[in-house]
Amino acid sequence: MSTSDLVAISGFIALFAMMAVRVPIGIAMGVVGVSGFAAIAGWGPALNLLAQSPIRTVTDFNLTLIPFFILMGVLAYALLLPLALTSNNAAIRRMRGANWQALHRLVYLVAGFAIVHFLWMRGTKNDVLEVWIYALILTALMAWRLWHWNRGSSGGSCSH
Ligand code: HEM
Repeated sequence: MSTSDLVAISGFIALFAMMAVRVPIGIAMGVVGVSGFAAIAGWGPALNLLAQSPIRTVTDFNLTLIPFFILMGVLAYALLLPLALTSNNAAIRRMRGANWQALHRLVYLVAGFAIVHFLWMRGTKNDVLEVWIYALILTALMAWRLWHWNRGSSGGSCSH
């Protein structure tokens, strides 16, 4: 039996022993992993690994960006749901006009979340030109909308 076989078998035994005395499984796996690596490569490299891997993990571009890009998509989706559910004549009749309008103004927030979602997603692929074009169009439309609101014309025929 080679040294690494012995290390592996004792690692499993140590892991199950720690689980039996209710050591949290993450800690048990960490202890076995680091000591196993130390038994094969030495304590110096094992401690180096311990020092470097948490930093490498939290500073990894994709590992930190992807959860945020997914979060933006989920937020956009969650906010779109009430809009979809109230986009029918019965709902419009049931909600008072001002309430319906206030709720449906969420669409501006959704547009923002969607752009950030799209930008971060394409950012992971280094392909963001198309996103900036949409962002520019959205900004122009929002500027136009704000200009109209400031002129007090939002209460006219187009009341969204
Ligand atoms: C539960 C919510 C959502 C999740 C989990 C989600 C997830 C994803 C994922 C994984 C991708 C990448 C696909 C790929 O790699 O090709 C993506 C792309 C994209 N998503 Fe979402 N998304 C969500 C909601 C939304 C919403 C609500 C919008 C728009 C309002 C949106 C717009 C986009 C766009 C424009 C892209 C890029 C498409 C492309 O260029 O290939 N997503 N989304």
